[in-house]
This record gives sequence, structure tokens and C-alpha cells, in this order.
Amino acid sequence: MSKKVFIKTYGCQMNVYDSNRMANVLKPHGYEMSESSDDADLVILNTCHIREKAAEKVYSEIGRLKKNKVAKAAEGNDMFIAIAGCVAQAEGAEMMKRAPAVDMVLGPQTYHRLPEMLKEAQAQRDAGRNSSRVMDTEFPVDTKFDHLPEESDFDNPAQFLTIQEGCDKFCAFCVVPYTRGAEYSRSVADVISEAERMAAKGVVEITLLGQNVNAYHGAEEQGEAAGLAALIKAVAAVDGISRIRYTTSHPRDMDDELINVHRDVDACMPYLHLPVQSGSDKILAAMNRQHTREDYFATIDKLRAARPDLALSGDFIVGFPGETDQDFEDTLDLVRRVKYAQAYSFKYSPRPGTPASTIEEQVPEEVKSARLARLQDLLEQHQQEFNDASVGMEMDILLEREGKQAGQLIGRSPYLQAVHVDLQTADIALDADRDTPYSGYMDKLVRVKIVEAGQRSLKGELVGTVPQP
Ligand code: 5AD
Ligand code: SF4
Repeated sequence: MSKKVFIKTYGCQMNVYDSNRMANVLKPHGYEMSESSDDADLVILNTCHIREKAAEKVYSEIGRLKKNKVAKAAEGNDMFIAIAGCVAQAEGAEMMKRAPAVDMVLGPQTYHRLPEMLKEAQAQRDAGRNSSRVMDTEFPVDTKFDHLPEESDFDNPAQFLTIQEGCDKFCAFCVVPYTRGAEYSRSVADVISEAERMAAKGVVEITLLGQNVNAYHGAEEQGEAAGLAALIKAVAAVDGISRIRYTTSHPRDMDDELINVHRDVDACMPYLHLPVQSGSDKILAAMNRQHTREDYFATIDKLRAARPDLALSGDFIVGFPGETDQDFEDTLDLVRRVKYAQAYSFKYSPRPGTPASTIEEQVPEEVKSARLARLQDLLEQHQQEFNDASVGMEMDILLEREGKQAGQLIGRSPYLQAVHVDLQTADIALDADRDTPYSGYMDKLVRVKIVEAGQRSLKGELVGTVPQP
């Protein structure tokens, strides 16, 4: 009999990828995806620990789920609650104690063992327990990638592909080295075969994912380990893949070979997420970022020389312990010089177990809030300016989903801007002949003229089709 699983994903794209993999691991065991936790036999919360209140959010969600679980039990039905991801990795044991409704705790490196864990949980339940207690947050020597079933459904023309996990950088604020463990790179052959399976299902764009993606050093069949530059070239050679992105990069690992890929490889999109976190040398050192602001500017200059239209994105933390008004002004100054096409910014949040959390000079909350508001104003202004400059340009847009209005499809520009494309009456008529609405355009690259710009998205008109790869 088929069962239902509901997976709620918090946090980063790596978790989105992991959630898809978990669904895939469970499929051969009779689990279908459900849109809601109400009718699910198994609920998995794939959690994130990067910023504050992550664990609290998970506890309140568990509280809600517990009601479902009790109601189901009254009808004689089992429901299992599993906590996965980085909160599970960091606080799993405590969670099991504090929330008895939780049946299973699994870390980001052990979700390939979900079917065995479920069996164990079921056995405990059959033996008369209300909740089972199954936990696996090891970092196994053999990697999960060796055990995951091959993904077969790709419902979107743009997909993420994890090539690297973990991080050895130990930025003073960050939990990732603890929750995801040491850096690990998949082999080139493994990555390419996944890319080929994606391409065979119509995937056009791949975003190579890793916590520290440009530190990638995957084994090659012969010779030395390949770096990210070589891997991008190999993925670009896969038939059907015409767009490649990668995220998230560390400025220290942005070597010349990788910079030149932006010049030499057409499929490498002119967009780069290159977090700097702060514009102050003092804070960069305290964060253990291992580079200065001048190093960062030098890297940006080289990148822009290689690819003049490169759109840059970044991450910023305001209110890191010891950050003065002057340090914060240095961050604003860096932002004015780089001019990001878009960026993410956060208030510093002390993470248990990280070195920065024990520094005494913590910045008051209201100072953090005021700085964040100023920084976000500036970043939003730059994003609007970047988008305004797109008006009148023609770009290739990969259409991925339907918009809210009839005849509207939404896709991404090469610079990762969301673009709403209004099909003209003639296009819609053409599409109406097809079995599935929009099938003529959906999942395809089309040529679009940008006619309007907002801060977060653009509007465009269809100019023509693009020869498909
Ligand atoms: N507090 C605030 N922001 C953080 N980030 C990581 N750790 C913290 C923290 N403790 C931000 C960084 C990182 C992004 C993924 O999350 O900017 O690049
Ligand atoms: Fe965290 Fe990124 Fe620093 Fe690694 S490089 S410790 S993932 S912020």
C-alpha cells in the first residue's frame, strides 16, 4: 500500500536538494510525496541552523505535528515525525529528550539510511511504544552519494546539483563546519553522470552546489583532483546543458583558472554569488575570513575584466562582535564600490559552539537593526539600478513556471533576475493547440525584450525562440 511523506524544507538550496533526494530514497519503499502534513504517514522537517531561532521554529512545528500524530493514533494509524538537516545534526540528542513526539533524528550525511531507520521505528512502534527513538547523526566514512538512488524525475529545466559539502574554513560566526563536517567533493565522473541524467530529462540549466563550492577538488579518473574550473568545462560539454551557475563561493578560492572560465565558457552564466560578509579589515580578520577588503576588490576587478557584464551577489553580516560605526561605514563603502546586482544581509546571530558566540563585545540588538536597515536600503537601491539598466535589452530567458496572470510565464535571465513574460495573443493561440498549455514555451529558452523593471523582478515581451540545445 502506498504511503505519504510530507517534507518541509528550511534554509538553503542544499537543503532543497537534500529534500528531493530524501523523497527519492523513500519512493522505492512506497512513499509518495504529499502537499500537506495532514494526510502524511511520515513528516520530515529538513532544518537549518545557520541563524537564530532555527531550533525554536522546529520545536513549535513539532508541537503542531504532535496534534496530528495524536489524532491519527486515535484512529489506529501510525504517523512518524523525523527531524533532518543541520538542527538535527547539532541538537538532535537534546531534541529527542525535549520533544518525545519525535521518532527519528538524522543528519545531512545519513539520510540515505532513512528506510532502515523507518523499519526500526516501525518495529519499536509495533512493540508498543507511542513514539520510537531512532537517531543517526554520524559522518559515515562511505558517503551517502554512494548509496543514493539515481534521481529520475526532474520537473524543472533548472536544477541544483550538489558537488561538494562541508567546509574547512571555520569562519568565526558559522556553524556549517560543525553541522556539515569537513569538506568533501564528489568525483568528476559522479557529477557528470548526474548532469547527463538531468540533460536526458530536458534539464537545460545546472547550478553546482556546495557550501564552499569553489574549494571543489573532485577525483578524476586519471591524474590529479579536478578543480571547479575543470568541472564546469566538463559539465558544459554535456549535451543539452547550456547554462551553468555555481554557489556559494569563498573569495579566497576564486583562482585565476576559475575567473577565466567566466571569460571562456559560454555556458557559465554572468552571475556570481561571492559573499564578503564585511567591508572592514578588522572585522574580516575577527571573522577569520582569511582575506582583506583589498584582496576582495582585486578579485572583483579580475572577474570584471574577464566578464564585463558579470552581475555580483553577496552576503553581509552586520553587528558582528566588536563592529564599530566606522567598521560598518567601511561595509557601506565596499557596497558602493562593488555595486551588487542583489545581495542578502543578516544581523549577526550567536551560534552555539562557534568562536564568535563567546566574544564579550556583542553589539546591541537595536544597533544591529539600525545598521541592517541602512545596508538593505543601499543594496535595494543598487538592485533597482541594476534592474533599470536591463530595460530595453534583449536577453535569453529560461521559462520555468506559470505566472499569476493568464498568459504569463516566469523565467530567469542570465543574471538570475526573475522575468515575467507576457505572451501575446498570437503566442497563446499557438499554444492553445497543444495538449498542455504553454508547452511550446514552458521549460524553454526564449528571447525576451525587457520592458519594465521592479526591484525584485522584470517584465518582458517575447521576441522569438532560441535554438534549443
Ligand atoms: N549570523 C548571521 N548570519 C550568518 N550567516 C552565517 N552564519 C551567520 C550567523 N551566525 C550568513 C552568512 C552566510 C549566509 C549563508 O548566512 O552571511 O554567508
Ligand atoms: Fe560558513 Fe561559508 Fe565560512 Fe564555511 S566559508 S565557515 S560555510 S561562512
